[in-house]
Amino acid sequence: MYSATCEAPVNMALVKYWGKRNEELILPINDSISMTLDANEMSAKTTVAASESFKQNRMWLNGEVVPFEDNARLMRCLEGVQRLALANGGLKFPLSWKLHIASYNNFPTAAGLASSAAGYACLVYTLARLYEIPMNEQLTTIARQGSGSACRSLHGGFVQWHRGIADDGSDSIAEQLVTAEHWPNMHMLILVVNDARKKTGSTKGMQSAVETSTLIQHRATTIVPQRIKELRTAIQARDFKTFAELTMRDSNQLHAIALDTYPPCVYMNEVSHAIVNFVHDYNESVGEVKAAYTFDAGPNGCLYVLAENVAPLLAAIQVAFPNDAQQSVEYLKGIPVPPVELKKM
Ligand code: DP6
Repeated sequence: MYSATCEAPVNMALVKYWGKRNEELILPINDSISMTLDANEMSAKTTVAASESFKQNRMWLNGEVVPFEDNARLMRCLEGVQRLALANGGLKFPLSWKLHIASYNNFPTAAGLASSAAGYACLVYTLARLYEIPMNEQLTTIARQGSGSACRSLHGGFVQWHRGIADDGSDSIAEQLVTAEHWPNMHMLILVVNDARKKTGSTKGMQSAVETSTLIQHRATTIVPQRIKELRTAIQARDFKTFAELTMRDSNQLHAIALDTYPPCVYMNEVSHAIVNFVHDYNESVGEVKAAYTFDAGPNGCLYVLAENVAPLLAAIQVAFPNDAQQSVEYLKGIPVPPVELKKM
């Protein structure tokens, strides 16, 4: 028997991916940029074992059986990595050996907390380790076919997913812009508003947006290309003010598109909107942009803040949102690290 165990972190988008031009290959209509978090805080951990004695491929997610062979996205990831393994040659065991895969998330699944990103990134990375394929660009195109945002979790630091132009998706890859060390005092706070499973998942939500929103094409062709340029420059220059404004505007635009979808998709709730107002009021009261928010396809807020501003911001959050059954605040460090291998036999 051969096995590998790896851990891959969640990433949080600053310029959002929302909309596909090819549903099967998961090709986006626009580029996106994200920051990868510290795997200790929010990550998926996956073990893959291969044995001659296994009768079929099997998978467990958080201890529950997942129908692996019926899941087109999982199978595409497996076949993608196996194709690369064949091309690499020198296999230690035949590709016909079946696999047992066990994966765990250390945070709520599908509550708009990017669980699929970490999950698929971890699956592809662990399979690559099992078949002894070194980290390379092609792995990001395979993880992308599990879940679009997963391709960005194969790198640490700040990462850009290029939409690409090729019909086969070969140039729709994730590229690391800078490592975590470039901006080590960048931190993130997650405000957990609700960890229930979301009503309309990202896949469905963005599909309806592409079909019905009259704003989404303008976003994809005109707004995002400019925003990507500006955000890249702000990250290079560690310009927090510009970084924060671009991030907040892009989150707001994602949710404007969601509302322009017909019927509308409502991801943020009253508490989410209260967080938005809180951040703008806070920045105004301190006379400087010291915090930024972003919301994915769910009500939970993510705040970006520099390390030296975490304590005063947390104090203000605790006054504005005293802990009750409605919401709690979790503090997650944004030390962006890539996936790591934990052990291999
Ligand atoms: C709002 O990657 O979950 O988090 O490709 O259909 O699996 P699929 O969607 P997914 O969508 C993520 C959307 C987002 C924005 C982002 O991460 O860029």
